[in-house]
Amino acid sequence: MAETSQQHAIDTMFLEERTYPPPEDFAAGANAQAGIYDIPFEQFWEQEGRERITWFEPFTDLYEWEPPYAKWYLGGKLNVCFNCVDRHVEAGDGGVVAYHWEGEPEGDARAITYADLQQDVVRFANALKKLGVQKGTPVGIYMGMVPELPVAMLACTRLGAPHTVVFGGFSADSLSGRMNDMKCEVLITQDEAWRRGSKVGLKKIADEAMADAPGVQSCVVLRRTGSDTPMQEGRDHWWHDLVGDVSDDPQSCPCEPMDSEDLLFLMYTSGTTAKPKGIIHTTAGYLVGTSTTHNYIFDLKQDEDVYWCAADIGWITGHSYIVYGPLCNRTTSVLYEGTPDFPDKDRWWSIVEKYKVTILYTAPTAIRSHMKWGPEYAQQHDLSSLRLLGSVGEPINPEAWIWYREHIGSDRTPIVDTWWQTETGMVLITPLPGVTTLKPGSATQPFPGVVPAVYDEQGNEVGPGGGGYLVLKRPWPAMLRGIFGDDQRYRDTYWSKYEDIYLAGDGARIDQDGDYWLLGRIDDVMNVSGHRISTIEVESALVDHQEVAEAAVCSRADSVTGEAIVAYVTLKGGGEGSIEKLEELRNHVSQKIGPIAKPANIVFTPELPKTRSGKIMRRLLRDVANDRKLGDTTTLADPTVVDEIAKRASDEKAQEAEA
Ligand code: WT7
Repeated sequence: MAETSQQHAIDTMFLEERTYPPPEDFAAGANAQAGIYDIPFEQFWEQEGRERITWFEPFTDLYEWEPPYAKWYLGGKLNVCFNCVDRHVEAGDGGVVAYHWEGEPEGDARAITYADLQQDVVRFANALKKLGVQKGTPVGIYMGMVPELPVAMLACTRLGAPHTVVFGGFSADSLSGRMNDMKCEVLITQDEAWRRGSKVGLKKIADEAMADAPGVQSCVVLRRTGSDTPMQEGRDHWWHDLVGDVSDDPQSCPCEPMDSEDLLFLMYTSGTTAKPKGIIHTTAGYLVGTSTTHNYIFDLKQDEDVYWCAADIGWITGHSYIVYGPLCNRTTSVLYEGTPDFPDKDRWWSIVEKYKVTILYTAPTAIRSHMKWGPEYAQQHDLSSLRLLGSVGEPINPEAWIWYREHIGSDRTPIVDTWWQTETGMVLITPLPGVTTLKPGSATQPFPGVVPAVYDEQGNEVGPGGGGYLVLKRPWPAMLRGIFGDDQRYRDTYWSKYEDIYLAGDGARIDQDGDYWLLGRIDDVMNVSGHRISTIEVESALVDHQEVAEAAVCSRADSVTGEAIVAYVTLKGGGEGSIEKLEELRNHVSQKIGPIAKPANIVFTPELPKTRSGKIMRRLLRDVANDRKLGDTTTLADPTVVDEIAKRASDEKAQEAEA
């Protein structure tokens, strides 16, 4: 053990041995068959590029790699909106539903066909033209999950105007920061958004943001709730007024031919501390990458499937797998405006039943919430239409994986655990559901045409069994083309640890079968007595205990072991902890992983601190564990959660001192 810990950047001890081969009938009809892995890199991406996309002018070169910058499908001309909308209507599929939109207030629903989408997009693009938007004009979008959000994005791409969508939960400061960084001239928003039965004033926040973002000259406001909304004369325009007198004839607003490498959008990703990075995605590689992965990983059957990615379009997951990938593949999707627990905790399952959803894609944090609430909510509904489940955003604990499969997938459906990042644009490590033998907690294999590896500190490949840094050795079509306005930061963040090799910032290990296990962000790795232990392994051991719903683990300084493990645990059904429970959980971890991973202490808490996209903020837990002043809490979904945890942690210490 001592020897391995010197060799490997991260030690791994948690062994999960359950396996799930693909069901026979699924395998027989799957879009991706085993031979897909044998296609050489160039051939694979060349073929997908030619066949999946309609080009105005075909590309002449597959890719160019001048590290750290790549270009793909050089010389090609295309339009993303044309590929996602117009060509489907021209092919006679205008009557196919693109989105079954389900509003948060019950009964508020709309089916939007590809023909409807085309009309809406053409009208709105014509409206934007009236405001001076043209090829190259940067546009900001700050909306909730309404159908007009994809309409706005597609209208921008139709005109060749790059967009940045800012998640509707962000503050005025976050919004103005992004508007200024991208130099947006137009901002599209809505009066208010529905959130858990109450109204959130997006336009009000947009007003505050625009006060600090003087470059924004026009603001378009969609009426969603109908509440009184102050409009600034000359700057603000109602969406319905602008589209009132424009044409919906596609000829009136043809799709702008764009170069393969023209900017499509920026997606800002907040590191946990520093200024958000504007991640650059361009046109052709992004569209090929997202549509190809969407087709094979979700095994999409155009005329049979009802696909639901339950993310928010304000994140990269929504861009790639609600809007661009699925629409390019002429998918019928569900688009849901609200939260999973409104008006009750069975809302998602009622939606699955109502639209007979066949494919559901969500995040571990959502699955763990459903686990915490209990399976009875899912049991109230007929979920038999589901045939495939997906997970993204964090490593999924094996117990959450099993729960998802048993209670949502009737112990029948494959689960695709898809690893990727805002920066990668598309999924890179994932099972193919008709081919791959699944292991709960493992993202399994590189997608065809993707070449990752696990490296040690020195840049040697770590063999099977060992842990290290996840890297990508070759470029891929949807990869980021840089950080907007900051070449140096791009080089420093992703390309400086190893020469010409992309550093993902995640720990990973490869097992004896060549399957990848993601171990969380590198910054979260703990060092106990010289052993590098990943937080996810200890968390998974805790969640493996039948009474634990969620766990977050971090380390604190310890004079003996260097670092000691501290665990924050939420019990199922809101149960309170006890000294006995604490001992039981410590022993459980010891049994699952080994005594070295036993948490030095455990704090029981009703909630864990999470970002708005649902990632646990271990940095703040480290501050609490080390009695430090709390760092930046502005990216927390609910800032009061850490105060509560800090209080519980200090109560516990006081009790210990007394005992
Ligand atoms: C980080 C990227 C990409 C869409 C949503 C998140 C973690 C993502 C997995 C997975 C283990 C995962 C990684 C990654 N992550 N998917 N299947 N297994 N970890 O995008 O906000 O850019 O976050 O999310 O740590 O680096 P993002």
